[in-house]
Formats: sequence, C-alpha cells, structure tokens
Amino acid sequence: MRVTERRRLTAVARGAAPADLYVRGGTLLNVYTGELYPTNVAVRGERIAYVGDRTDMVRATTTVVDASGRVLVPGYIDPHVHPAHIITPSALARHVLALGTTTLVGDTLQFWELGGVSAFTAVANALARSPVKFYWMIRPHAQSRTTDEQRRFPLRDLVRALAHPSAVAIGEVTRWPDVYAGDPHLLRRLDLALARGQRVEGHTAGASAEKIAAIAAGGLTSDHESITAREVLDRARQGIAVMLRESSLRPDLSDLLAALKDAPGLAARAMLTADGSMPAFVLEHGFVDHLIRTAMQRGVPPVDAYRMATLNPATYFGKDTDLGGIAPGRYADICILRDLEEPRPETVIARGRVAARDGRTLLPIPEPSWRRVFTTPEARLIVSWRARPEDFRLPDRPTLPVLRLVSAVITRVEDRAPQPTDLHAALVDRRGGWVAPALIAGFGERVDGLATTISTDFNILALGRRPESLALAVNRLLALRGGVVLVDDDKVTWELALPLGGIMTAAELPEAAARERELSRRLAERGYTFHEPLFTLFFLSADFLPAARLTPRGVWDVKAARILLPSRPRT
Ligand SMILES: [Fe+2]
Repeated sequence: MRVTERRRLTAVARGAAPADLYVRGGTLLNVYTGELYPTNVAVRGERIAYVGDRTDMVRATTTVVDASGRVLVPGYIDPHVHPAHIITPSALARHVLALGTTTLVGDTLQFWELGGVSAFTAVANALARSPVKFYWMIRPHAQSRTTDEQRRFPLRDLVRALAHPSAVAIGEVTRWPDVYAGDPHLLRRLDLALARGQRVEGHTAGASAEKIAAIAAGGLTSDHESITAREVLDRARQGIAVMLRESSLRPDLSDLLAALKDAPGLAARAMLTADGSMPAFVLEHGFVDHLIRTAMQRGVPPVDAYRMATLNPATYFGKDTDLGGIAPGRYADICILRDLEEPRPETVIARGRVAARDGRTLLPIPEPSWRRVFTTPEARLIVSWRARPEDFRLPDRPTLPVLRLVSAVITRVEDRAPQPTDLHAALVDRRGGWVAPALIAGFGERVDGLATTISTDFNILALGRRPESLALAVNRLLALRGGVVLVDDDKVTWELALPLGGIMTAAELPEAAARERELSRRLAERGYTFHEPLFTLFFLSADFLPAARLTPRGVWDVKAARILLPSRPRT
C-alpha cells in the first residue's frame, strides 16, 4: 500500500475525511480476539479505515450498507487452489465470490506448462486487480518425467516468477521423496522461495511419520494431503502448516477434524482447502463456505472454523496485514451473514465494493487474454498431424505391464498376457512426435474410444477398446483444439471442447458442471465405477501417484523409478 493511501485511511479513521462505504449495525466476528460484538466498519477505497462506534466519517458521498441483525466475518481464503480445472480462474472467481471467497492462492502448473513464465505473468497481471484477490504458487518441477524438464522449468524463470508481486510460494512440490533424500537440485529451488520469506507448498501424500522430519528440514512449509487425523498430527507436530482438505476427489474434512479434538491448539494454525475440486462438486456443495459449515457441523467452535478460513491462511502466507480479518489497513473483504451458523453470505464486500448479493456476483472479474497466454501452436493445438489406429499398437510380447485402476487415481501393475477386457491406452505428444502406448484395466470395459487433453503433462491421453475409435477420438480432439471426446464404434457421441489451451472452456462454472455430470453419466454407462473420471484422466500421467503412470518416456513405475514399456516415435 502506498503512503498516500495510508494517509487517506488515517484521515477517514479520524473522521477528517468521508468514508466511501460504511457498514452499519452489524455484529463483528473479531478473528484476532475471538469476540463477537456490535460495531461498524468504514472503508476508503479498497481498504478498511475504521472499525468502531463513530459515524463522523459518514457523509453525503458515503454508501451505507445496513447490516443490522447480521454478522460480519472476513472474506474467505482458500490457500491451495487449482484454478484451471475445465473453467478459467476468472470463471471460478465469479462463482465463488458470491459464496464468500475473496482470496485464492492458485497453482500455476497449467499456464507454466503451456506457456512458461510469460503465460504465468500474463495471467497474474490480468487478475491483479480482480475483486477476488489472486496469489500464486510457482511450480519448481513438472508432474511427468521427461527428458527436457530443465528446459521447461529453467531456474532463472523460477526466480523471475517468484519476484512477481502476487507470488507467495513455491509449489506444489509433489516430489517429496526427493526432498526427503536431500536432493540438492530441488532443495536449491525451494530455497529461492524461503530466502524471500515465501512459503513452500508441500504434497506429502503417503509419507510416513518418521519421514516428516527430513521433509520439514528440507523446506516444505505446508501440506494438504493428509487423509487421516493421524497424518495431520504427524505433520503439524513437525511444524508443517496443515491444510485440511475437502475436495471432489478427497472429501476427507470430517475425518481430519478429529485431529483438533486431540490437539486443540492446532486450530490456531490449521487451514481449510477445497484443493482442486471440480465444477460439479463446487456447484453442489459450495466452496470455502462448505468447508466452514462442515467444520462447525463437526463441532468445531465457530470462531475456530472461521479463523481456519481467514486469519490462519493470511498469517501463514505472511499476508495478515492485508488479509484475513476485519481491521483497519486490511482489504475491505467482508461477508455479511444472516447467521454465524450459515457461512454462505447474504452480501459480500470485496476490495471495498459490494461484490455479490444473494448468491449473485455483481462486479466484473477480469478475464486474461488467453490468446496472449497460450501463444504457441502446441498450446493452441493448431497441428496438422492426425492419429491412426496403428499408433495404439502394442509390442508383440507374451506379457505386458497392465495398469489396473484400483481407485479413481491409484493404479496397480499387473504383468500378464493382455485380456479382451483391457483397454488400449496411450499418451500422445501434442506435436505428434511420439506415442507412449499402454494397457489399462478397470476404467470401463465398454469405452470404445476416449481422448482428452486433460492430463498433468498436457499431452493427449487416449483410451478405449478399439484402436479405430481411439484414432477418431484423437482426431476430433485435434479439430476441437482440445477437450474431451467420446467415441462409440465409429461415431463421436459426446464432446466437450476446451479450446483455451486444451484445458479450459470459456463457459461459466454451472454450465461446465452440467457437462461434467454428462461425462460422468456416460462413462458410468460404459463401466466406469469410480467417482471422479476427470481426475482419473488428469492423473494417469502424474508421476507421483502409485503405482505406475503413463509418461512421455513410457509406462513409468513410480516406486522403482524405471520405464516398464517405452514410448516410441510416431512415424
Ligand atoms: Fe493440490
């Protein structure tokens, strides 16, 4: 904040200048003291100037918001968001602002992988003035093993990105085994953030208690992957800030909250996150409001529940002079609630303006110019190659490594002769230069051909029982410039175009949610039995989940760190 702005705030607080906005007659939840008491809030520009009983800053030019009988709580913060799942970050913000979320700390993986540091900068700059405040974590490494990772994640670009005013962390760091092992290359990258006073967002899924000390010593400052209360404590005891997660893939919050019963002091530091929840889940349940409600329903005192979604994340990121509480100097981000028990707000004030009312967002959220974010032919998927059935041919061997899905995202490797119920699968280079063929079991036996650009390595994932249907699905996908295409026999029977980088639609969240439900229904009809098909597709190429993955180098055994079935050039 500039000194001139601070001087104006002091003038309003003294009653020497008019407030722009005055919220009158509400009961404040003070997250700093845990008290609830009646008071008023005066706002100048984007910031709170005064909290108290006086009214001398209310003048003819002041907009007065009547909050009598209402409760004022700070705008909600999600500290760990993947904001480019099918919809744009702006579309997500447009939806969640009306649900009370005024700050998102977002992942940058998609932009980085499709356009490097300049794509990140374009998105971050476009959203810098958004009523929903965007802060960013910068990825130190890819999600899928390739030989050109150094080129895609150069150190100097990482340094540049971390210097962006809205960058607050490195993350998320999924290669926790490398941190545990003290890998100097990775630790050096993490130190770039730590040396600037920024955070390191960890992903320590499956790390056992005795490994946490080395992981914490290596520099990870938070973790959001606990799936039991025990894991929460294992991490919290070693000083790692825990984010309790309730996502569409892992709706675990109710169980995780048990950790607060064993260790009530945790409430002073724990945070809540929806992680990368898909649009259908957000539409049905809500966003941070849903997390706060769940916490209160599980017996967490309201003050603690709201703190975990406001002050705690603000403090964790070192942003508590800007965010997380209703107090002078902070952004005027205020949820006006009918009742403390119901976190979905009646009115939302963001950056000092009435931003949403009765579930409707009233202020425009800027949309990045996606043509400037995704500039290369590969990112836009403007390519001339086309798939052929023989691209999905498998080597002629008596046995092959078959990836069996045992949950929505976890696989097991079966080394055996192919069976008729196995699906062909392949990761295909966006440029058409290589193909990594595989066999998959347990996805859905009646899928003829499915192709998508939704994958953690941003190439094309195809699977199905008929190579001809697979080729057709891939080719339709190329014509759409990305998305999801379902083929039955030799006909395209369902498609979702995601022309923004092959990963996002320009549609709003409710429409995307409806399409997502259609896909889930169609895949269920074809034998898919898990709850989150988009994450199944997304994570099939992620090299950090057990037990094997489809990567550009081939079928990758995650634990043994070796290729089970190599990729090959497409000739
Ligand atoms: Fe995450």
